[in-house]
Amino acid sequence: MAKAKATDILSLIEAEHRQVEQLFTQIEKAKGNKIPSYFQEIYKALNLHARTEELAFYPALREYEETQEYIEEAEEEHEDVSVLLEEIKAMKPNDPEFLEKISELKQAVQHHVEEEESEIFDAVRECMSEEQLTALGEEFKKAKAKLEPDVEAALAQ
Ligand SMILES: [Fe+2]
Ligand SMILES: [Fe+2]
Repeated sequence: MAKAKATDILSLIEAEHRQVEQLFTQIEKAKGNKIPSYFQEIYKALNLHARTEELAFYPALREYEETQEYIEEAEEEHEDVSVLLEEIKAMKPNDPEFLEKISELKQAVQHHVEEEESEIFDAVRECMSEEQLTALGEEFKKAKAKLEPDVEAALAQ
């Protein structure tokens, strides 16, 4: 039997980006009371993704000259996304501006995702080995499992 395949951190991050994009497509098509439940999924997925990157990916970027320069902007973009998530969470789903805010959030996320998958990933591939990326993938999974209860708790507040 084949051994479970170890995954590099970049593939894990990309897979989560695709999941979030999927959720945005779903919330845009959703009607009525489905909208808040999709927002909850987006809130959870994005917060968990960003916190996990901050714990298990961005510190690795700090280690290399090629990647250091991207951290500050990436962290600012996480902060922008986080502010929007909290603003939307505080809104009533029937607020006329709710979907407008969702689309603002989507644009902010898209911009950040594009930056990660182009500039940042390119720089990472230049300075980190396959083995390192696989080891970071393991750390990413562990960090995510550790952070999940906190994000769940934040959602319930
Ligand atoms: Fe990020
Ligand atoms: Fe990301």
